[in-house]
This record gives sequence, structure tokens and C-alpha cells, in this order.
Amino acid sequence: MSKKMTKFAVFNNKGGVGKSTIAVHIAHGLALDGYKVLLIDMDGQNDASLFLGFTSQDYKKTFYDLIVGRNKTRLLEECLIHARDNLDLLPSSYVDRINTELFRLPSINLVLEEKLKDVESFGYDFVIMDCGPQRSKVNDAVLCYADGLIIPVQLQAASVRAVGNIYEYLSDMRLNTDRIKLIVPNMFDQRTNDSKENLALLKEFVSNDHLLTEPIPRRVKIAEAGKLGKTVFEYDDESAQQFLSIVKKVISRNAREEP
Ligand SMILES: Nc1ncnc2c1ncn2[C@@H]1O[C@H](COP(=O)(O)OP(=O)(O)OP(=O)(O)O)[C@@H](O)[C@H]1O
Ligand SMILES: [Mg+2]
Repeated sequence: MSKKMTKFAVFNNKGGVGKSTIAVHIAHGLALDGYKVLLIDMDGQNDASLFLGFTSQDYKKTFYDLIVGRNKTRLLEECLIHARDNLDLLPSSYVDRINTELFRLPSINLVLEEKLKDVESFGYDFVIMDCGPQRSKVNDAVLCYADGLIIPVQLQAASVRAVGNIYEYLSDMRLNTDRIKLIVPNMFDQRTNDSKENLALLKEFVSNDHLLTEPIPRRVKIAEAGKLGKTVFEYDDESAQQFLSIVKKVISRNAREEP
């Protein structure tokens, strides 16, 4: 029997809320726990790749080639970077051109199922996708392809209020909002009332408490690790523990394991 593969998109229309940071750490955390993981960088800024220490000089072929390529055999293999033990990275390039390409298609609902169909044969347990901000054709396609969504929310009033836009986006796409599997409050500052108030506001907004993880603190070491091309598992024990607790939730929320 073939293994089940679960695909999570780390998504928020809002920029700078921690999508790439959280995608990278969930992917690496799962890999450290023994799962076989593919991280797909879907954002033109390539932050997820950079946070793992890879620049555009480290890759020639990318997700773009899979979108425009005509089902060449072994193409996916040529695009993959072995990023860490158990963790492969599919980098991205020319995201604007990918959007243009997808615009031409009559329907994007199944486009990634088709373009990424070889992924199934690599035996991954999890595919984690780091999305760019805002609505786009690529994000439309990713939202259709993902089994579940992980939503980082920065603990700042404007970001908390903007969570409604994600629900709207899903409903405009005719996708059920129960695809949202986890909401990760990010950049929590224990010392400020503002952060605590915004966490309370988010709790009110998210009717189902079950979706919320523990907040990730704002910590300079998290940003520093990213700049060095390392994850906190290689750089900062305290943050590592916090991300591991989120990884555990991801495993328990594994969409395909639910009845
Ligand atoms: N908990 C945190 N503590 C400190 N810095 C953080 C934290 N989370 C993210 N950052 C930093 O904040 C910045 C934005 O984070 P990140 O790039 O992950 O956000 P994003 O949502 O992916 O942004 P974009 O919308 O541009 O893709 C980065 O410099 C990152 O290192
Ligand atoms: Mg990002």
C-alpha cells in the first residue's frame, strides 16, 4: 500500500507575518522527527530557500520549470535540492511568469495535482508549501492543492483583523474553511499588553480554540538564524522547543489521518 502524503500550505494574504519562517521550521521539525518532507518555496522572494541557506546560485531548475515543462521524465528530480536529512527543497523562480502561465488555463483547480504528480512517487510524508502574500493565481492553485492550511498571524491589531480576509478568499474560491487546520500566533511579546490584547482578540475571532497553537515569541535569534541560513534547531534551543510543540500539533492535525 502506498504511503499517505499530506500537503499543508502555510498561507496568509498579509505580508511579513512569519509564513516563510514557520513553513521552514515546520518542515525541518518534521524532518528531524523522522518524517520525509518536501518544502516547496512558492514565493518569488525565495525566503524559505534563503532561510535554509540556499541562494539562486545553488539551483538551476525550479518550480517554474515544472509549470512550463511538458512532463519531462525526471524533471522533478532535477529541481530538488537535498536541504537537510529527510528534507528536500523545491525552489522557485519567475513567480510572475508562473502567474501569467496559470492565467491562461481555463481552470486551475487541478493544475498542481497534474504538475506535481511525480511528487507522489518520492515517498514524502509531508509537503509543506511556503506561499507568497496576497491573492494570486499561484495561491489559488496552492489553496486547491493543499489538504490543509496553516495560518501564521502576527500579534498586531491590523494582522488579527485581516484574518477575515483569508476566510473570504477561501469562500470566493468555493473552498471549505475547514481546510484551516492550524492558526499560529507569531511575534508574541510577553512584556507588552498590546501583544496580550491581540492574542485575546485572535482567540475571540477564531471560534474554534482547537485551531490555535501556542504563540511563538518575538525573538531576535529567530530572525538571526534565518539570515545565517540556519533553522533554530541548529541555532537556538529555546525557540527550537517552541517550534517542536507546533510540529507536534501539525502531526496530530494531519488532515488525511482524520476520519
Ligand atoms: N517570531 C519571530 N521573532 C522574530 N523575528 C521573526 C519572527 N517570525 C518572523 N520573524 C522575522 O520577520 C520577518 C518576516 O518573516 P517571514 O519572512 O517569515 O514572513 P512572511 O510572512 O513569509 O513574509 P512575506 O509575506 O514577505 O513572504 C523575517 O525577517 C523573519 O526573520
Ligand atoms: Mg515569506
